[in-house]
Amino acid sequence: MAWLKVAFVVSRDSANPVSLLLQQYGAIATSLFDAGSNDILEAGAETTTLWSQVRVEALLKVGTSLQSIQRLLGEHGAEDVRVSFVQDAEWESAWRKHTAHKKFGRLHVLPRDSSTEVDGPLVRLDPGLAFGTGEHATTAMCLSWLESIDLNGNKVLDFGCGSGILGLAAAKLGANQVAAIDHDEKAIEVTRQNAIFNGVNLTLGKTIPVNQKFDVVVANILLNTLVEYAIDFTNSIAQGGVIGLTGLLAAQQESIVESFPRVCFDSPVQENEWILMIGRKSCDDI
Ligand SMILES: C[S@@+](CC[C@H](N)C(=O)[O-])C[C@H]1O[C@@H](n2cnc3c(N)ncnc32)[C@H](O)[C@@H]1O
Repeated sequence: MAWLKVAFVVSRDSANPVSLLLQQYGAIATSLFDAGSNDILEAGAETTTLWSQVRVEALLKVGTSLQSIQRLLGEHGAEDVRVSFVQDAEWESAWRKHTAHKKFGRLHVLPRDSSTEVDGPLVRLDPGLAFGTGEHATTAMCLSWLESIDLNGNKVLDFGCGSGILGLAAAKLGANQVAAIDHDEKAIEVTRQNAIFNGVNLTLGKTIPVNQKFDVVVANILLNTLVEYAIDFTNSIAQGGVIGLTGLLAAQQESIVESFPRVCFDSPVQENEWILMIGRKSCDDI
């Protein structure tokens, strides 16, 4: 099972009211930390803290409306809001139980152990504990986008590869070189196993390969990381190449446009509250 972890800092007076409201939004766990140290407390009606600034971490279902959560946090003056994905050990079996055959145009995604036969490009996947089954809107938008462009002979960078799903899809759709990057050892190992199973050759690594240009760069991470790597991503796009960025909420579009001044973006693709931003390196940027 994958979860959204929402972490933020609020004043002592707001910590418990916000935590209780988050529980009404379905948070399965809410923890309070001293924003200045690692002391920890479980949130509860009777909990009071002596700390003036409190860091709150809440675990929510992946489908939770982040717009409502952001509004709630804004109303309570939350700062340093960070959203990330986490998985727990049930994730592997949940994938097997709930994942059906998925289709993105010509592209099929199936669990590795499925006996279903299909025509067309196919990725057989076991995500293990890594993120990326095709289930989440951000992954699904990337898969539909990759399927819609001509990848034949292309060099592709899949940054934040998770299970390897996007890089594997790119390879199956005709890319001839794919670099799959993740800072998480588990994700790299899962991607390696999925690549072997699919008979695909991927270059695996923890950081963006230096001095290399890619026809297609795809990254499904989250705003903070996309902004942090904006210059590296832009430098990695080959002339005439394209970039697809997701893990973003609709309200975050402007931050991306500002952080990637050398990229011209189309209107975003949107699914629920999530967007995929597709852009090209500006013509005058060589
Ligand atoms: C939301 S998952 C995306 C997985 C898959 N690409 C997909 O679209 O479903 C994000 C992945 O990015 C990785 N990641 C996050 N920050 C990173 C960083 N700074 N460098 C490399 N990988 C990172 C995480 O470990 C995680 O596997």
